[in-house]
Amino acid sequence: MVAASSFEEVISLIKDRLDIVEVVSEYVPLKKSGANYWGLCPFHNDKKPSMSVSQSKGIYKCFSCGAGGDALNFLVKIQNREYKDVILELAEKFGIELPKKFSPNNEKKNEKKEMIKACKKAAEFYNLQLKTASDANKAMTALRKRDIDDEIIKAFTLGWAPNKYDSLYKELHKEFKDDILEHAGLILKSNNGGWIDRFRNRIIIPIKNENGECVAFGARAVDEGQNPKYLNSSDSMIYNKSRLLFGLNSAQEAIKELDGVVIMEGYFDVISAQAHGVKNAVASCGTALTPEHVKLISRYTKSRRIYLSFDTDNAGVNATKKGSSVIKETLSALGNVKQFDESHISSGDDNKYACEIRVVSPPQGKDPDEFIRTAGGEAFTEYIKNAPLLIDFLLNNTLKNRASAKTPQEKAELVAQIIDILKDVNNKIIQTEYVKMVASIINVDENALLKELSNIDRLSSRQEITPQVVTKSSQFEIKAQKNLLSVFLTSDSPLSYQKLNEMLPENIIQDETLIIVKNTIDKLAQTINNVRELIKGLYTEFIEDDNLTQILTDIVELSEAFKGLEQEEFECAVRENVTRLERLYQEQSSKELRQRYKQVNDDEIEALKMQMQLRDKIKLRTGDK
Ligand code: GTP
Ligand code: MN
Repeated sequence: MVAASSFEEVISLIKDRLDIVEVVSEYVPLKKSGANYWGLCPFHNDKKPSMSVSQSKGIYKCFSCGAGGDALNFLVKIQNREYKDVILELAEKFGIELPKKFSPNNEKKNEKKEMIKACKKAAEFYNLQLKTASDANKAMTALRKRDIDDEIIKAFTLGWAPNKYDSLYKELHKEFKDDILEHAGLILKSNNGGWIDRFRNRIIIPIKNENGECVAFGARAVDEGQNPKYLNSSDSMIYNKSRLLFGLNSAQEAIKELDGVVIMEGYFDVISAQAHGVKNAVASCGTALTPEHVKLISRYTKSRRIYLSFDTDNAGVNATKKGSSVIKETLSALGNVKQFDESHISSGDDNKYACEIRVVSPPQGKDPDEFIRTAGGEAFTEYIKNAPLLIDFLLNNTLKNRASAKTPQEKAELVAQIIDILKDVNNKIIQTEYVKMVASIINVDENALLKELSNIDRLSSRQEITPQVVTKSSQFEIKAQKNLLSVFLTSDSPLSYQKLNEMLPENIIQDETLIIVKNTIDKLAQTINNVRELIKGLYTEFIEDDNLTQILTDIVELSEAFKGLEQEEFECAVRENVTRLERLYQEQSSKELRQRYKQVNDDEIEALKMQMQLRDKIKLRTGDK
């Protein structure tokens, strides 16, 4: 066991133990060519190896999509996890002892343990009440109506919170401190200062974390007009609803095995699904799907195949749209969403797409729970097998309304909706095929549709192109500034940090992001005097910022050009970049000055005019000649 005194030291010790080639090789086959290793970039749909891995510099960089960083950054990115979690795991793997502050202290650990214990006891208590409480009949009736038998009740430890103020508190307060029960969300302060149960007169659904520990509850109303329909535990030290999925503890094996996950809307959808053999079903707990949820499930399914199975009503369709855009955004760094079924070209490449989103929607009017109960798990599995890709679902859903679009305006609106869906199709050939199909269905001219689409293409690409023209000189400018920073990161450089700093005029780095890099170099250089450690420290500083990490990687990459230069050549190269930049800045500032001068003139004329008018008015009023 090595003890670290700070979190930075933990990271540093971990980095010393990570070899970039070893780390990347676990995910991507690498081939040596020249000084570097090369492989297919796992962060975009790479056709030929565009990712280089440099063992000596400890970095990877994709020359196609720009992804880059050090070994730790690679792990965080490819596992799609919080860097802190990855660090804690690696620290354990490498036997690095965390400083006290970071290993959760005993008091907190104990409190968490107590809370989990209290939740477990509460779940058992509620479960028993379902059989024994005098008012449990209505709960049983409600459950039976949903075809929930004793086996399911047992498997999910479903329960009943009696319609009394303190039946749970009475049971638990001998064993647990009040604040433990309160922090676990089981009891509330009543108006007269005593404690009352939080859940009363409700069916109880225990919520378990990935380890199967009960950490929270969902509680459903049973009486007509009892509001809200669901009362859920709030977040606590042991429960974070945006990071927990209901059912994942029992679904994780199936998700891995089937390489896919079914996301549903509610607790009872998941309960029915799992009870009827659809074992890979999960749901969020009374919240919309979050990026954390998406990251969580993408750890279990290799090809990130996600089936959305929400209600078939309008609200369900909206949830499907919202959920799918959260998924797309969260995984966008990994490439494109699958938009075309090509099962006949079985490629065997699971990682070709960022994700595959499919929509499971059983016939109208039935939510997944009801459908599974009436038609059975096998029928539902059949729907999963044939579930359309998101794009096909969205198109179908829009085209369903085509009969009601009669006037030209209504038709134009329909076309606009369709174009909105088709514009996201990356492959032009596939897009054209879709256009042909849609055009014939809604009876509009195919070419008109295509033209509309290419208009959108042009609009969006114009937005991209214009700034590029303007920034032509600025790209050059950025490159020169990066060059100047890269000299600080050149191994075996003939000049010290101080000497290099003296060569740089003040304000020579002007790009906002690069200023951050420079300031961080300055800060670290106070205590670090070796390039390898400096680079390591910079990556640690930027650990949470992907953009800075990529820019840093560019700079480390550029430093190669300065390697092995004699002092004179080195100084000459630095000076050349400085001169270039100074000339550029000068040109820019005189251009700006000219522009400002022109503006000042216009403004002055305006001011003069106003002054004259004012004077005329005053003259009129005072009669002054
Ligand atoms: P029915 O289909 O009408 O029998 O109701 P249900 O019990 O299946 O629940 P519903 O389909 O209406 O809701 C699905 C999910 O939405 C639930 O599992 C909850 O997570 C969430 N939800 C529904 N109502 C509420 C509410 O009032 N508050 C909160 N926080 N979440 C709710
Ligand atoms: Mn429902």
